[in-house]
Amino acid sequence: MHLTLAVPKESAPGERRVALVPSVIKPLAKLGVNILLEKGAGQSSGFDDTDYQGVELVAPDILYEQADILLKVQPPSLGEAGKIKEGGILLGFLTPHTGDSRIKKLLARKVSAFAMELVPRITRAQSIDALSSQASIAGYKAALLAASLCPRLFPMLTTAAGTIRPAKALIIGAGVAGLQAIATTKRLGAITEAYDVRSATKEQVESLGGKFVDTGVQAEGAGGYARELTPAEKQQQQEVLAEHIALADAVISTAAIPGRAAPKIIDRATVERMKRGSVIIDLAAESGGNCELTQAGKQTDHHGVVIYGPKNITSTAASHASEMYARNLYNLLVLMVKDGELQLNWDDQVIADSCLTHAGEIRHAPTRERMEGGKK
Ligand code: NAI
Repeated sequence: MHLTLAVPKESAPGERRVALVPSVIKPLAKLGVNILLEKGAGQSSGFDDTDYQGVELVAPDILYEQADILLKVQPPSLGEAGKIKEGGILLGFLTPHTGDSRIKKLLARKVSAFAMELVPRITRAQSIDALSSQASIAGYKAALLAASLCPRLFPMLTTAAGTIRPAKALIIGAGVAGLQAIATTKRLGAITEAYDVRSATKEQVESLGGKFVDTGVQAEGAGGYARELTPAEKQQQQEVLAEHIALADAVISTAAIPGRAAPKIIDRATVERMKRGSVIIDLAAESGGNCELTQAGKQTDHHGVVIYGPKNITSTAASHASEMYARNLYNLLVLMVKDGELQLNWDDQVIADSCLTHAGEIRHAPTRERMEGGKK
């Protein structure tokens, strides 16, 4: 019997993306699965039910009852998690570092849950890397937000009314989102500087035409990510960066450390050194913010400086974000489904590392340690 794969409408407030787009239906069908979609699931990302040729449109209750494999964008709510078929498969962003009651529900139902956040950042898994696909959209959108909120123009303009000098943009954190923000502010004509604690980023920033700000602080951590800074390093970083922040028309901050609160990099005193009319777009708002004054989801004004910490910015490009995300999911499914049947190869690093729960056990070690104190 062939597996049934199902895609519900996202229920989290403000979420406009969907885990299946029409162009992925044919490749998915070739894996030999039946596909169910909740009616209206694609509407907020620009896809009508009629665009989904070859899938069965159903009501949510039927969908959960029949789904062997459930594809989600956001983690399921507690209610949704409780409806997943016992022993079923779940693929989506699952925020493994939080949401313990949801994880307990998945354990109780023996769900094999694969978290897109846990997909290893190895070359072979690049086409599955949803953190990257969504972060690049976030970086692009952050640059557009900065340009539209800034009362100064980004490009140099020579007009009959005089010459306008280009704006200065500073990007803090040159990971996937930061690099896309650099590329976009450059394309818009701003003079762009960027900073990251990982030394490898210097070359990447420069290859995009940005100028690297050297604070003398380097903090490579495990798995190619950054580590937390010591108090002395923080102080040093802050002193050098404050000079650059004070001169910037737009600051886009993207600094993050997986599983931890975002590092605080821009304090109140630094904001107060900025020019009136300058803008801070804080992409780390949802994990606490890189700026001390950021309020997640809000646009505030501090002494004439606009500070905006958007929530789920990727959803504002729901159509393309869903297309990229749905392809990431498909590429992961290719490793799991053969001829309509499930084949989980635990020797495959991508399968093993991305698994959060399976057969009533927590497979992700840091989550297990948090929830069970290390007991296997
Ligand atoms: P992220 O979203 O976890 O963090 C964003 C950026 O903030 C990172 O570049 C990090 O170094 C930086 N950061 C952290 N603390 C900071 C501080 N105090 N000051 C300034 N910057 C700070 O990172 P993301 O974008 O998810 O990428 C993380 C790593 O994964 C990078 O090394 C990236 O190159 C790598 N990667 C590898 C891929 C592969 O297939 N090999 C694919 C995608 C990313």
